[in-house]
Amino acid sequence: MRKKIVAANWKMNLDFNMAEDLMAELSEKLAEREEDGPEIVICPPFPYLEMAIDFSEDGAFLTGAQNIHPLDAGPYTGEVSAAMLASMLVDYCIIGHSERRLHFGESDAFLAEKVKAALKWDLTPIFCCGETLDQRNEKRHFEVVSDQLAAGLFHLPESEFRRVVIAYEPVWAIGTGVNATNEQAQEMHAWIRKLIAEKYNPATAAVTSILYGGSCNAGNAPGLFAQPDVDGGLIGGASLKADEFISITRSFPARQ
Ligand code: PGA
Repeated sequence: MRKKIVAANWKMNLDFNMAEDLMAELSEKLAEREEDGPEIVICPPFPYLEMAIDFSEDGAFLTGAQNIHPLDAGPYTGEVSAAMLASMLVDYCIIGHSERRLHFGESDAFLAEKVKAALKWDLTPIFCCGETLDQRNEKRHFEVVSDQLAAGLFHLPESEFRRVVIAYEPVWAIGTGVNATNEQAQEMHAWIRKLIAEKYNPATAAVTSILYGGSCNAGNAPGLFAQPDVDGGLIGGASLKADEFISITRSFPARQ
């Protein structure tokens, strides 16, 4: 059985007091969640990570960073390494978000190095992939996602690949209010799983968690999470409201 995960990507939002209030509410309300519920990961901005780790101590959620630098230390002003995060006991890190690819020019080769660094330091990478609207309209979305996975992840040996989580985030759905339909999400997730089976083997494909991200909210999460190849979500805007995020974490179909 693969892991169900709901991860909150707060992006560059909230001041310190707002972040503290939201974490306090989440840690209180998520502490009561069901035994077989999903793994919940909160990825706040870097300055709030230590606070998130403190709030996570009662087990309501795990913590994640939104980015890492692939090197352990050195003259890279403004950057944060996987080694630093590991020393703070951070659990996850997002790698290859489309906003980093677009605004910070992060190449596939650079992302592949980040994945290596994360695994070296025992952080679970949430590796993002997804096509733009133009690429979908040109019917290149499968090719684009295949290329992103081949360049960013498929250099890993199987034992390392098994420690990676994938997030399919169509760029046209991020922050737009237009989510992928259940069918579009399922189709791409099944395609990703097929690529993993071909590159590695069916057993590895079967245990890889593939999250959906892009305008996922409390209204559409139940439909998306009911798809057989959708194992949870990477949630942006809707993760900034405690009640809505908590409701998303409870949107999985009941286990048979
Ligand atoms: P959104 O963002 O939920 O606000 O669309 C998701 C993401 O970018 O991870």
